[in-house]
Amino acid sequence: MSARQVVIARDPEDLAHQAARRFVAAARRAYAKGKRFTFALAGGSTPAGLYRALAQNPYREQLVWYRMEVFFGDERCVPPDHPDSNYRMALETLLDHVPLPEDRVYRISGERSPEEAADIYQGILRGHFRLGSAHLPHFDLIILGLGEDGHVASLFPGMPALDEARHLVVATPAPPYARPAVPRVTLTLPVLNAAREIMFLVEGARKADIVRRVLGEPPTGEAERLPAQRVLPKAGRVVWCLDQAAAAQLQEGI
Ligand code: 6PG
Repeated sequence: MSARQVVIARDPEDLAHQAARRFVAAARRAYAKGKRFTFALAGGSTPAGLYRALAQNPYREQLVWYRMEVFFGDERCVPPDHPDSNYRMALETLLDHVPLPEDRVYRISGERSPEEAADIYQGILRGHFRLGSAHLPHFDLIILGLGEDGHVASLFPGMPALDEARHLVVATPAPPYARPAVPRVTLTLPVLNAAREIMFLVEGARKADIVRRVLGEPPTGEAERLPAQRVLPKAGRVVWCLDQAAAAQLQEGI
């Protein structure tokens, strides 16, 4: 059963620092095992604060960049230099500012067709983690945001990708309300739930309602569970890093 921790930060800046400290701690756990730290970045806007913090001291100098491997939880099907590209956001806020060897960054090729990009990325995961067809990659850390509909990565409520149990990576359309409403490529729930640690980053008053629903309202049944409520790593921990605005509707002691 995954252990769950909720950390409430004063504001987005404090959130970035709280998350950066946990990121460094997760990296050090991997280093202590003589491993490279293998993690997946989230897209959207919230993680940018964390990425900028990691690119600066004290966190930058606490990380051993040549012992790190960067993957992505999902990508919009746009070219890597497109304003909506998660890769571009990560490049601008973090990857261009740290001594991470380029061959340690594994981006999802958003410029290709969604199905082709998903197949290629799945092949990268299988090759990198040396996986047989029935095995899952165990990321040391996967960073996730939370959509106002409860989606994580590009696993949206009611979309088939959410129930994908065979593939590690799938292509999925985005629901019409999603922004940007372009096809996506996403890690699947089994991969998220094979992670050693999941770190959610959620900020802002507009997320307060979904945070309450996800953390404060146990689902009545499997079908009612929001995507974020299905992220329960079997042998991992889940840390929810919220700012006070996003946590405003949570009861004490969640
Ligand atoms: C994406 C993300 C997505 C994001 C949430 C929250 O590609 O958009 O993977 O899951 O994390 O939509 O986005 P914000 O942080 O911008 O609110």
